[in-house]
Amino acid sequence: MLNPDVLIIGAGAAGLHCAAQAARRGKSVLVVDHAKQAGKKILISGGGRCNFTNLYTSPDNYLSSNPHFCKSALSRYTQWDFMALVDHYQIPYHEKTLGQLFCDDSAKDIVKMLLAECERYGAKIQLRTDVLNVSYEDQYHVTTSQGTYRADKLVIACGGLSMPKLGATPLGYRLAEQFGHTIVPVRAGLVPLTLHEQQKQHFADLAGVSLPITASAGEGYFREAMLFTHRGLSGPAILQISSYWPPGETVSLNLLPDQDALQWLEQTRTEQPKAQLGTLLQSHFPKRVVQALAQEHQWPVTQRVAEMAKKQLEQVAEDLNHWSLKPAGTEGYRTAEVTLGGVNVDQVSSKSMASKLQPGLYFIGEVLDVTGWLGGYNFQWAWASAYAAAQDL
Ligand code: FDA
Repeated sequence: MLNPDVLIIGAGAAGLHCAAQAARRGKSVLVVDHAKQAGKKILISGGGRCNFTNLYTSPDNYLSSNPHFCKSALSRYTQWDFMALVDHYQIPYHEKTLGQLFCDDSAKDIVKMLLAECERYGAKIQLRTDVLNVSYEDQYHVTTSQGTYRADKLVIACGGLSMPKLGATPLGYRLAEQFGHTIVPVRAGLVPLTLHEQQKQHFADLAGVSLPITASAGEGYFREAMLFTHRGLSGPAILQISSYWPPGETVSLNLLPDQDALQWLEQTRTEQPKAQLGTLLQSHFPKRVVQALAQEHQWPVTQRVAEMAKKQLEQVAEDLNHWSLKPAGTEGYRTAEVTLGGVNVDQVSSKSMASKLQPGLYFIGEVLDVTGWLGGYNFQWAWASAYAAAQDL
């Protein structure tokens, strides 16, 4: 197909869905991708089972410099629309937790479904194709390692920077800039946090231990599990809060989310005056967690609680309910699930994903400055933004 109506760069979640939806509306569509396989991120997502949407998707689950931008697309192609497609292909799935829908069997089912939709409507996918140059003279001229294509419409669906080993590149941002768009500074999101050397030593033995906590930073607040790792902290609570954490600032962790720690300590001091602080804390946390936290916060664990000064007790309570942790950084794009920031949405139509600056140019999926929470929200954005563009192409 030398000159399709629509050329899409990126055969990921957004590109494949857009291709099928545009072809369904009678457009000739060609998708090019440098990878050997389409939908690589889908295949490894959700631990191989793809958390493909969330029952409770709403604009509140997204970060963007313009929080209103995602509303129109999300309301015109909802989680229920994508679930109807999944049902049509008889793909078995289940709700794991918090509205997160996962395939029962394999993420391959979702990729097969998207490829089947492309085939059904005649959209072509060409892999192992490097994009070498893009220019515009009444039409887009896209020079690739497999030849040059001309198309009236060009859709940028090449994602963000997370997981370079899966084929992520900055091409989407470079093309956006080439056509006059600005890029909201990018950084890794939904990513484990790393600790400074001394803290790493305190928690080194806890790798694999998980605790229910709340984490807050900026406008973010999440109540989920935190996991200690060899490098620092991970688990859903930490991945979620990483997207709200301004590097260099602190994250507030509550290790006793259901309890006022001071009230509890004061009450137990009356009830068990002979008990040592460490023993009391072990009624809530495994012994090695208490030991590590004691090192970190210099708690007098061998002291009897009855003998502790009120100030000391208040400090322990503060450390438990409001641990103000300053991470060293994040694990970066190597392990990040998403890229925060991206193509500035003020220069893109929220109805159609079309550039406001350049005729026939569209941006969909993660390349835009719209980032979802953990839990199926990022795929739902890919499906919804792809659908919005397809209606306009
Ligand atoms: P996506 O990254 O899917 O696709 C971009 C495509 O462009 C790729 O095929 C790439 O090869 C291609 N491309 C890039 N540069 C190119 C170039 N220079 N030339 C040609 N082609 C190029 N989300 C969710 O909702 N539920 C989940 O369970 C998960 N799980 C998950 C696990 C892991 C490990 C990661 C890394 C991410 C997730 N996500 C997720 C996030 C989700 O995968 C992501 O938001 C979407 O895939 C974004 O879809 P896009 O189509 O925008 O980009």
